[in-house]
Amino acid sequence: MSSDVPNFYNGQNVLITGGTGYLGKLIIGKLLRTTNVNNIYVIIRHKKGISSDQRLQQLFDDMIFTNISKDLITQKLHAIEGDLSKTELGLSEADKSFVRDKVNIVFHCAASLNMKANLVDAVMTNVNGTAALLDVIKEAKHLKAVVVVSTAYSYCINKTIEEKFYETPINADVLLNMAEHLKPELFELIGSKLSEKWPNTYTFTKAVAESLLKTRGRGLPIALFRPSIVTSTVSDPVAGWSDNLYGPLGVLLSTGCGILRVFPGDNSVHMDTVPGDFAVNAMLCLAWNIHKNWESNPNTFEQSVYNFSGYNSPLYLTTQDYSKTALNSGYPRFKRALFAPMLIIIYNKFIYNILTFILHTIPGMILDIISVFMRKKPRMYKIYSKMYKVTSVLLYFVSHEWKIKNDNVAALWKKLSPSDQTLYNFDLQSIDRDEYFYNIMTGLKKYTLKEETPNNLKPHKERFIK
Ligand SMILES: NC(=O)c1ccc[n+]([C@@H]2O[C@H](COP(=O)([O-])OP(=O)(O)OC[C@H]3O[C@@H](n4cnc5c(N)ncnc54)[C@H](OP(=O)(O)O)[C@@H]3O)[C@@H](O)[C@H]2O)c1
Repeated sequence: MSSDVPNFYNGQNVLITGGTGYLGKLIIGKLLRTTNVNNIYVIIRHKKGISSDQRLQQLFDDMIFTNISKDLITQKLHAIEGDLSKTELGLSEADKSFVRDKVNIVFHCAASLNMKANLVDAVMTNVNGTAALLDVIKEAKHLKAVVVVSTAYSYCINKTIEEKFYETPINADVLLNMAEHLKPELFELIGSKLSEKWPNTYTFTKAVAESLLKTRGRGLPIALFRPSIVTSTVSDPVAGWSDNLYGPLGVLLSTGCGILRVFPGDNSVHMDTVPGDFAVNAMLCLAWNIHKNWESNPNTFEQSVYNFSGYNSPLYLTTQDYSKTALNSGYPRFKRALFAPMLIIIYNKFIYNILTFILHTIPGMILDIISVFMRKKPRMYKIYSKMYKVTSVLLYFVSHEWKIKNDNVAALWKKLSPSDQTLYNFDLQSIDRDEYFYNIMTGLKKYTLKEETPNNLKPHKERFIK
């Protein structure tokens, strides 16, 4: 059987931004496991006094790389110090020319996903980061494919999300100019007017960043990849792994722990989720496809958009169905559960606030008082305040529904050889939903809570207060 996709990566140098994040780690692991890639260069910023090289070393220890030989990792994985918020990513002259001379394939995954970020920070990371990366790679001499990752919700102001470039809400360069030169208060004021249709700074800045493909990315072999909400892996490299608890996984975790008991949202609204390993498989195949289209005729090459969406797949479930997962008694229980898991999803703000007081504030206060008497640190107030903020950010996404078109991804799937389809499965119809959700809960228990699995724990009895 022919395997076109791994052959495409054979001997190539791959550049990744966001390699320390959820999708970035999965890309690195999959490349090392299934291809004979030459080298993988990861743009990493120094953070909290830790250099990019040290952060790369820390990455080696991540459990998802445990099945890959240390020698292979050390030999093929390299850090390049860079920061999205800086001009030309803050790369040294040597690194810039290295990238231009050596890099063949680029995955741009880095972003700020903080929906509460102030506008200037979100612009500098998501818009400036994309602009700066495109500036650096546009002179790359041996470029074959560039995959820029956005989100299916960048244009969530529409009910149907097409696989196309939408008209940008503001010229990206103008926005960048304002972010750099206006006083922060003035910029926030103008920016909030410009972005008023968007629910948060993350989706707005992703929308603006997409337009850069048509300007700074013009003439490059490039495509835009927009996944919906990314959840745990189906099987690769292990089932049920994620280190990203932004959306539904955070809800499942805190519900399973008995902490989250009431959630604002609409029971009947569908959530559009896709597993992390499937998203990465689609991206790796997309790079191959970009090159194939480019190679056949660079002059007629057209930049395309690929929405990776769970619309009408076994994972396209209502929030109510999703929450049943955390409550399913056949699924693994968490040792850390403070209370028996329950979840009420309620749209009415007034009733939601009353239930929050009864089900979160009062039990939280009681536990905090008990903790004080036991000379332990009270923590529930802090946890519930944070949770209240997080749930209010998610409200928009659990009270609206979208039809996210994914015909281009479906066409990409059909182009693959059977061997590539096996190696890089992203067919959502192939997922056994029950097994997948069982694995999500097991993964949260095993990888996030670091609890042993399986167990026969009686719900929430093991430990009441830490
Ligand atoms: N996760 C989802 O549900 C989802 C859904 C749709 C689309 N996406 C898109 O998929 C991509 C990857 O998401 P993810 O889930 O992997 O996110 P993630 O786990 O939060 O990772 C974000 C990555 O971006 C890097 N980064 C952030 N700011 C940076 C900066 N100023 N300079 C350099 N690197 C920076 C982070 O590096 P540090 O380690 O230094 O912080 C990290 O490696 C993003 O573009 C996101 O918009 C994600």
